[in-house]
Amino acid sequence: MTDTLPETGRSAPRVLIVVDSWQGHTAAVARRVADGVRAQGGHMVMRSADDATRADLIVADALIMGSAVHQRAMTWKMKRFVDEVCEPAWFYDDLVGRVGAVFTAGGGAGDAGGGAEAAQLGMLTNLAACGMILLSLPKDTPGGEFGATQWGPTIKSTTDDMRPIPPEQMAKEHQIAFFHHGANVVRVAQRLQGLTLAAAGRMPNPEMRAMRTEAEKDHPPGTRWGHLADPEGAR
Ligand SMILES: Cc1cc2nc3c(=O)[nH]c(=O)nc-3n(C[C@H](O)[C@H](O)[C@H](O)COP(=O)(O)O)c2cc1C
Repeated sequence: MTDTLPETGRSAPRVLIVVDSWQGHTAAVARRVADGVRAQGGHMVMRSADDATRADLIVADALIMGSAVHQRAMTWKMKRFVDEVCEPAWFYDDLVGRVGAVFTAGGGAGDAGGGAEAAQLGMLTNLAACGMILLSLPKDTPGGEFGATQWGPTIKSTTDDMRPIPPEQMAKEHQIAFFHHGANVVRVAQRLQGLTLAAAGRMPNPEMRAMRTEAEKDHPPGTRWGHLADPEGAR
């Protein structure tokens, strides 16, 4: 969507923001997250959930996932990013010890919040599976009073009677927490640079790793590898 990663020294964390937005609300608040990343001195790359590849993850010090809330969960495109891109990163331990964070935008019908928390937790379980250090949203984060769970900022894209608010008309103060969430990711990533976590070299063992690398030889990290084939009888 924007920029490419510059070659930088390790002092400026490289932050990858992966977004899925159907109607522009999540994309709008992703730009506020990106502002926070840059203001704190991080290098920001934004990719759509359709376009991000494992090559983007390998060079990132932090991964921030931002999704619209669909049926109380992340969107199917974001889940496809999880399955096609994060799963290989999980297998090869690409993201261990790096920073992971999430944010959402949702219509938010009902007092219970419309499932933003469930969507955020769904994304966080993926980041945790990848061995990432998860960054929550502290309760005193500026702007948190306008839309947040303890897991990350969220914004309501409809009025209380469910009329849609165009992305460009969403209140600026409702987007403040997104800025600080992005800045916090950079603060944490800066401090974690050079961190090594304990590793036994057991999973995957060298034989498993070699087998899979052989199977994937036509799919380098810069490409996407989806379903190999529809199973017989499933159509
Ligand atoms: C298929 C679909 C399912 C949705 N389900 C929910 C939901 O469960 N909870 C909610 O708060 N909003 C739901 N919404 C509303 C969107 O989350 C909301 O419009 C959001 O702002 C869209 O973000 P976007 O503009 O980035 O696409 C749904 C919208 C669609 C299209």
